[in-house]
Amino acid sequence: MMQKLTCSIPSSAISYEIEIQSGLLKNPLPYLATLASRFAIIADDCIPALYGEQLQSSLQAAGCEVHQFTFPSGEHFKTRHTKELLENQLFEKGLGRDTCALALGGGAVTDMAGYLAATYCRGIPLVMIPTTLLGMVDASIGGKNGVNVPYGKNLLGCIYQPKKVFIDPVTLHSLPLKELANGVVEMIKHALIADSAYFEYLEGHSGQLLALEQTVVEKAIFESCRIKKTIVEQDERENGKRHLLNFGHTVGHALENLTHYALSHGEAVAIGLLVESHLAWQLGKLSMSSFERLHHILNKYGIPLRLPCRFSLEALLNAMRLDKKSIAGQPRFVIIEEIGSPLCYSSSYCMHVAPLLLQRAVEWMNDSFS
Ligand SMILES: NC(=O)c1ccc[n+]([C@@H]2O[C@H](COP(=O)([O-])OP(=O)(O)OC[C@H]3O[C@@H](n4cnc5c(N)ncnc54)[C@H](O)[C@@H]3O)[C@@H](O)[C@H]2O)c1
Repeated sequence: MMQKLTCSIPSSAISYEIEIQSGLLKNPLPYLATLASRFAIIADDCIPALYGEQLQSSLQAAGCEVHQFTFPSGEHFKTRHTKELLENQLFEKGLGRDTCALALGGGAVTDMAGYLAATYCRGIPLVMIPTTLLGMVDASIGGKNGVNVPYGKNLLGCIYQPKKVFIDPVTLHSLPLKELANGVVEMIKHALIADSAYFEYLEGHSGQLLALEQTVVEKAIFESCRIKKTIVEQDERENGKRHLLNFGHTVGHALENLTHYALSHGEAVAIGLLVESHLAWQLGKLSMSSFERLHHILNKYGIPLRLPCRFSLEALLNAMRLDKKSIAGQPRFVIIEEIGSPLCYSSSYCMHVAPLLLQRAVEWMNDSFS
């Protein structure tokens, strides 16, 4: 069944549809042919054989000019240099402002293609066609894009909204389980910050979701996209409410960093969700039973919860200094009052916590997972 959401951002007078339908990529996406007559499919090098050739043939059959441009898969290649190489290839094909960029792939691709589309010929239309779960429920929605630099992740980029997001959950069938887990953790995060009924749904359907049962996957993707787009609509530029989407990521990013990415994003954020929820419990907000439910659901989805070693509070604080929510090097955390109910304090969605509470949460983390 086709499901549609509209993301409307009043502050930028922008509105676009997010369309979710199994099998969407199989038909020639008639909408695309109305958007432009020339297309640049941007993908990483794993995607053409899986989905790129198919999309290219469909569009060509509809009479469109289509070119594919690829870069090596992996976070290491989400760089300025790759962007420049891709841009040169588009110029060499004589592609101009009448070209639409199709971002086909995971979040690394949607970030790269989004940044390229925003700047190429001062901006060309962009359509997102995410093929990872994380891409579907997170990276393709909200307009953030960018590349990594030696100074840190995603430090260059801009906010540039797509014309449309096409989600075909069937593409998840070729995705390795480890990659699927990264998306599942973001889905659990969405439920924690916005919707207790969705949390219950995720609790009750872990087997079906992991087995990619169509109705369950479509429903969960829909709910997560709804939550993400509703937050983006209220705060496109991340001045307040969008901080909620960073729940679990303050500690999660620090752990990724400290383990030199030995932990996957999903594994690091899962532990981050627990540590930051532990803070909420210590503050007398989140109940112990809800905290345990979170631990349980992560286990149910088979998310590995382990650390290669113990981490000191100092090391974590140091790694969190550059977190985007930090003020004067001091981290701030999203705190949930209950599952589905984040704390808003003086119009802010994140707050400093006392070092002692952080110390206890880090001790709990070390005792539990290392
Ligand atoms: N802009 C945002 O709002 C936002 C949000 C979250 C994450 N991100 C970014 O997203 C990136 C991570 O995205 P990701 O987790 O999708 O990883 P990814 O894009 O690196 O993809 C992971 C791997 O899966 C492969 N792949 C993609 N689709 C596949 C499929 N259907 N079948 C088989 N293999 C497939 C890719 O080729 C790659 O090897 C990071 O760079 C992160 O910074 C951006």
